[in-house]
Amino acid sequence: MKLVDITKENWLDVIFMTTNETVTVKGSREPYEAKGMPTLLEDFVASNALSIVQSVYEDGWVIKAIEHEDKLIGFTMFGWNEEDELYELCRIMIDFHYQNKGYGTQAIKMVLDEMKKRFGCREIYISTDPENVAGIHVYEKLGFVPEESSNQDEDDDEQWFKIVLD
Ligand SMILES: CC(C)(COP(=O)(O)OP(=O)(O)OC[C@H]1O[C@@H](n2cnc3c(N)ncnc32)[C@H](O)[C@@H]1OP(=O)(O)O)[C@@H](O)C(=O)NCCC(=O)NCCS
Repeated sequence: MKLVDITKENWLDVIFMTTNETVTVKGSREPYEAKGMPTLLEDFVASNALSIVQSVYEDGWVIKAIEHEDKLIGFTMFGWNEEDELYELCRIMIDFHYQNKGYGTQAIKMVLDEMKKRFGCREIYISTDPENVAGIHVYEKLGFVPEESSNQDEDDDEQWFKIVLD
């Protein structure tokens, strides 16, 4: 597994990766269930398209696709969160076709190593919706610990986690 750049060859494949197994599409005809259709905001993560645009307009974010055995399986965005002044693994997603095979766990470990190498940081934060049981299970398995006090606005109900690397 490796982190790869987003390029003119792969950008379209990257933005079509999604965590939406099915999504209800409402339009000019009756709502219908679409399979594997990305949406701007997915259940527990922004679309890769949104993250790529965010990395253009906000300083500090690194974007990479996650490749395994020559296939794109996911996406990540990480770096310095200017607003909260901390290093953050801001986005991590594994396309729904590839979830629950151990890839997310392996990918997060790889991103933490990359952040340590790139920034020399020891403390890394991650946040998610408290209902994201699978995500929280993976974070805690890797050694992330819930933060008591939120770094975010009061109206933001994300749960923050921190890991301190060796
Ligand atoms: C979170 C995410 C990256 C994990 O990727 P993944 O490849 O499925 O992860 P893994 O296969 O390594 O591990 C999944 C773990 O969650 C567990 N799990 C899956 N569904 C679960 C559920 N509903 N409740 C509890 N645990 C669950 C699996 O059993 C597995 O645990 P185990 O390794 O101890 O058996 C992926 O689910 C994802 O992209 N989710 C949507 C985006 C997201 O939530 N990103 C994080 C916030 S930005």
